[in-house]
Amino acid sequence: MASSRFSRFFCRRCGWQGTGWFGRCPECGEWGGVAEREGTRPLSEASPRPLAEASSLSARRFSTGFPEVDRVLGGGLVPGASILLGGDPGIGKSTLLLQIALHVSREAKVLYASGEESAEQVRLRADRLGPIPENLYFLATSRLEAVERGLEELSPILGVVDSLQTLEAEEVAVPAGSVAQVARAAQRLSRLAKEKGSALFLIGHITKSGVLAGPKTVEHVVDVVLYLQGDRFSSHRLLRGAKNRFGPAGEVGVFTMGERGLEEVPSPAAFFLRERIPEVSGSVVTCSFQGSRPFMVEVQALLPGPVYGSPRRVASGLDPRRVALVLAVLEKRVGLKVGQHEAYFKVVGGLELEEPAADLAVAVATASALRDVPVDPRCVLAGEVGLGGELRGIPHVLARVAEASRYGFRRFLLPRENALEVGDRVEGVEIRGLSTLREAVEVALGA
Ligand code: TYD
Ligand code: MG
Repeated sequence: MASSRFSRFFCRRCGWQGTGWFGRCPECGEWGGVAEREGTRPLSEASPRPLAEASSLSARRFSTGFPEVDRVLGGGLVPGASILLGGDPGIGKSTLLLQIALHVSREAKVLYASGEESAEQVRLRADRLGPIPENLYFLATSRLEAVERGLEELSPILGVVDSLQTLEAEEVAVPAGSVAQVARAAQRLSRLAKEKGSALFLIGHITKSGVLAGPKTVEHVVDVVLYLQGDRFSSHRLLRGAKNRFGPAGEVGVFTMGERGLEEVPSPAAFFLRERIPEVSGSVVTCSFQGSRPFMVEVQALLPGPVYGSPRRVASGLDPRRVALVLAVLEKRVGLKVGQHEAYFKVVGGLELEEPAADLAVAVATASALRDVPVDPRCVLAGEVGLGGELRGIPHVLARVAEASRYGFRRFLLPRENALEVGDRVEGVEIRGLSTLREAVEVALGA
């Protein structure tokens, strides 16, 4: 299939796309099937103009009403930007976007289009969430053309489409929810949003790994990709920025789902430590950056066994390759016999630790679990582990120590280089600089 970005022509029968017209579809051979698509001409005739004259997008940003959502977006909504909100069914996507729609429509027109729920159902939910402003318009449809017409007619400051999977276009004979259909709808709607200057949320029932619906292709079409994550059986939710053409990606917002929709957790840095039981072996606290903000995070390890055959290794919230590296270094350089043990790792609260700075916490949690010796609960560890068993310096160490000390952590085990960097710049804390993982394990387990 030709690249669809420049394709003005398509086949009504098979969905073929191309830049030229044919009397007979080159794909399926249907005579008279190829038609010209509307609205595919270039957005504006391009001619050079001074860059300084382009209006600054950040100046036109507007708030969602949730500072936590605004920060994940890089400072609020941008006119004309399309945003994919992915997440498992039932996690709260419709709720969050209805709350945002209720807020934004206090000032300007908002269109909420749903192919999933009727006006009555959405009304019922909205009544729980707050007063319904006159500027909030609702459209119950699963027709892509109807959503487009709605956006054309209303020119809202914000549009919400719930969901991409339910939309069907008249022109293509492929079922709603298929990869081609979802990608096509996303493409047409985000182009229209850009033309109209409307910010546009597109809901997708997509897990981060793309398991559910497959259309990771949609990610390339939109400007911003957000995922709402969490365990349906617990009340907290994470909003994670996976891609952002208008700001930094990787920011995380923290919410709880309650009676009146999603609520922000005001200072979430230590939120995920609230259920921690001190003095349990295999549990270690580290301070990790999620986007631009430090979080206190508990890493847990459990090592049953040893077992015959190849032991099971499960790591949730950690990069399995880094876990494998840490286990290999523990075995080879520290002399801990972890090889035949099953190993389970968990980052509490569903956070993801992608930084190498989490290595030391993983290593010490493993050693603590293996020896069944708890680590001092007021101790924080952070550092990268090298293949030689050496500890390597990490970025932002002063910010991490300062943040952790705010929550009562008093002891820090850090790579030597970082310990020197912190020196005595944070009051009331004991900083221990270490060169090797072996040393760190000995100090942490008091051996
Ligand atoms: P929903 O937004 O419909 O999920 P999605 O659109 O991602 O499929 O959220 C559904 C769940 O949220 C449902 O189990 C009910 C719960 N919920 C609350 O707990 N409080 C509320 O105020 C609302 C509106 C929903
Ligand atoms: Mg929904």
